[in-house]
Amino acid sequence: MKFFVDSADVAAIAELNDLGMVDGVTTNPSIILKSGRNILEVTKEICSIVSGPVSAEVVSLKADEMIAEGRKLAEIAPNITVKVPLTWDGLKACKVLSGEGKMVNVTLCFSVNQALIAAKAGATFISPFIGRLDDINLDGMDLISDIRQVYDNYGFETQILAASIRTLNHVTQCALVGADVMTAPPSVIKGLASHVLTDKGLDQFVKDWAKTGQSIL
Ligand code: E4P
Repeated sequence: MKFFVDSADVAAIAELNDLGMVDGVTTNPSIILKSGRNILEVTKEICSIVSGPVSAEVVSLKADEMIAEGRKLAEIAPNITVKVPLTWDGLKACKVLSGEGKMVNVTLCFSVNQALIAAKAGATFISPFIGRLDDINLDGMDLISDIRQVYDNYGFETQILAASIRTLNHVTQCALVGADVMTAPPSVIKGLASHVLTDKGLDQFVKDWAKTGQSIL
């Protein structure tokens, strides 16, 4: 499973990238707002660090305007993935932009039917939002496994990019059901290394080692 970083925090992306943890990056208008940076500048900086797909989202609601924005975003770097919303206009923009050879990430997916129609429109990535389904007491992970089954049934090449990941268990479940990619904030990715028994065990080892009076170096 590929790891994308769901952030525009350049320092956090660079730290994870140095460890080989970053296969790509996703951003959205809320993430750009949080960064306090200009979208074109921060996206360009991210693309100078990360060689994998970097999603930058259009903000217009009409297809022709989304296409114009997508073309401008795609000029930033060859690894830009244009992110469009899962609306009828977004699907029109997806079809045109993917036809031009650009990577397209269709976002705000909440149903199998939406994922199906995005694949038909030539999406490179489909972004089902797990956490936001969990927020309304539905099971976001069911959606990931259902899309997996449908895409496999018909050989769609659109990659399932599990988004709105909030917990470590979301990551585990995505890997188990076969999401192609998961995108998560840096805090969640760093949290994957943690386990309470690791901390407890290490604490005991440190104490016992001190009692030996030995040193390795
Ligand atoms: C990524 O592409 C999505 O925009 C993001 O994962 C949404 O996450 P949120 O629901 O936690 O805002």
